[in-house]
Amino acid sequence: MRVLLLGSGGREHAMAWKISQSSILDALFIAPGNAGTRNFGKNIALSLNDFNEIKEFVLQNQIDMVVVGPEEPLVNGIHDFFLADELLRKIPVIGPQKEGAKLEGSKDYAKEFMARHSIPTAKYASFTKETLEQGLVYLEKMKAPYVLKADGLAAGKGVLILESLEEAKLELYTILSDNKFGDAGKKVVIEQFLSGVELSVFVLTDGDSFKILPEAKDYKRIGENDLGLNTGGMGAVSPVPFAQGAFLDKVTNQIIIPTVKGLKNDNIPYKGFIFFGLINVKGEPYVIEYNCRMGDPETEVVIPRLKSDILDLFEGIATNTLSERDIQFFEQSAATVMMVSGGYPETYKTGLPIYGLNNVTDSLVFHAGTTADGPSINTSGGRVLSVTSYGKNLEIALAKSYESIQKIEFDGAYYRKDIGFDVVK
Ligand code: AMP
Ligand code: GLY
Repeated sequence: MRVLLLGSGGREHAMAWKISQSSILDALFIAPGNAGTRNFGKNIALSLNDFNEIKEFVLQNQIDMVVVGPEEPLVNGIHDFFLADELLRKIPVIGPQKEGAKLEGSKDYAKEFMARHSIPTAKYASFTKETLEQGLVYLEKMKAPYVLKADGLAAGKGVLILESLEEAKLELYTILSDNKFGDAGKKVVIEQFLSGVELSVFVLTDGDSFKILPEAKDYKRIGENDLGLNTGGMGAVSPVPFAQGAFLDKVTNQIIIPTVKGLKNDNIPYKGFIFFGLINVKGEPYVIEYNCRMGDPETEVVIPRLKSDILDLFEGIATNTLSERDIQFFEQSAATVMMVSGGYPETYKTGLPIYGLNNVTDSLVFHAGTTADGPSINTSGGRVLSVTSYGKNLEIALAKSYESIQKIEFDGAYYRKDIGFDVVK
């Protein structure tokens, strides 16, 4: 099989690493990829939102399958584009069509979906510029902290959690009246604040059946003890100790099954990953958000725990035979610690040379933001490297990642020293 993987982060490096091990792979291309992905296939400079450019590449290179890493091409309809094209129609895309991707692309759509299928989630109401007054009244009836969410994709910045009513009212006004988030904020979801521990659960689905992947917990804040600004993710662990047995059964029965069935009943075709952002409120799981793709950095611990051939599973998705495919996992735990550029998530430098990558022997180093410049590998983003290790338990896996990080250097490198602090004793 000749595969084109779209994306350029740690998630895509981990996927490229896994796809490259498949017994049915003939050639792997990654667009645009990074300095790490080129070890597992050929990096191709394509723009992810230029579907015609992708089409030309796919046809010229006899691509048999397209795997989509990030949400944006899915929300913009890359899968629909393939289905609508005479020449591309038969080439499977792993990732939902536009309608299914709205589970991530529109918070209001996702909330309506959950309400329709009785899937546990925070109580909410949605407002637009026209209903701003009602929105302000609604806020008065809520308790602090106030949760405001821009409806559309806002590069991870669209969720505001505010302590004071005054602030919440002002923000609602700014989003709806002053277009603070542009089109993404034409609608705002106001919801009840849920208090608990968050985790991420992933499934693969062909639209009929599904396979549950190992769960993970990511660490979003820049600072230790989960303090400071939000980031794309500073590390992750899998498994999540509290998310086993009875809790996982509740997740399966109250959330995963109703979601997959709901999509089918609503005639929303869905082939790909569903990411359930969950919160454990006193032993009860609630959905905080859906994503139409894998998480990052969760992929960097989930995919290493997958034992089965990932292309065999993708083929099952493409041919609606996922239920016949076997899925197995490694018993070992996995942990990843993200090395980021100094200053991230605010301003930071790029183009800095990274040293010592070849000295790491006990971990997998997934590149998140790197480029190759001749023999040198340079930083090119806020999140730079995701250092993943296996271990008999999370403590051992984490210790290995921290040891490996000592061998890697770039100017201003920062990482959190407490990944997993709340789940390991
Ligand atoms: P989202 O983009 O929907 O994942 O929201 C970003 C983050 O905001 C989540 O990971 C949570 O930490 C937090 N959050 C979102 N909705 C709620 C809620 N209803 N209650 C508490 N925290 C929330
Ligand atoms: N780690 C959270 C995300 O990928 O959205």
